Amino acid sequence: MRVSFYSHAWIRTTGLAARLVAVALLVGASTGLAQEDAVLTNGREEYRIYCASCHGEQGRGNGPMADILTVVPADLTQLRRKNGGEFPFWRVYKIIDGRDIVRGHGARNMPVWGAEFLREEGGGYLDEDRVIGRILALVYYLQSIQEQ
Ligand code: HEC
Repeated sequence: MRVSFYSHAWIRTTGLAARLVAVALLVGASTGLAQEDAVLTNGREEYRIYCASCHGEQGRGNGPMADILTVVPADLTQLRRKNGGEFPFWRVYKIIDGRDIVRGHGARNMPVWGAEFLREEGGGYLDEDRVIGRILALVYYLQSIQEQ
């Protein structure tokens, strides 16, 4: 009698624990998605404001400014394909930032966004955090628009 009472209670609490874990996982997953959405939305907005004029609304390199540039802006939907199927996350980050690209490797036709964003954010040492966040959001956004 007692045994069955305990085992019954045990099953009930295990059931409850399992349900709690399941709920926690669901909440965790949906929060994760919400955060992912927020980062991508930010990145998309930054892209529209700062990049689409040259690289085009869809990232294909055909923005309205493209005609007057001597070098064609890259098609940004092909970065993964051009890198053997793997999105070159940190290379893209460095290209966008642009501040550590060595001079003497030819003219850069793209603005140095790291410097531009830092100026906009106030130019101080601590403002660098927001610069990093903005560049990361852009890289995640570009990662999300890769065609294959
Ligand atoms: C004034 C025009 C212009 C704007 C605005 C611009 N780019 Fe570019 N971008 C270029 C050009 C031109 C290239 C080709 C490489 C070069 O000459 O610098 C390029 C290259 C790139 C590359 C390298 C692609 C490759 O195949 O290696 C990335 C990544 C990139 N741009 C991202 C961005 C992002 C993100 C923004 C907005 C924050 C942006 N660009 C804004 C003109 C622009």
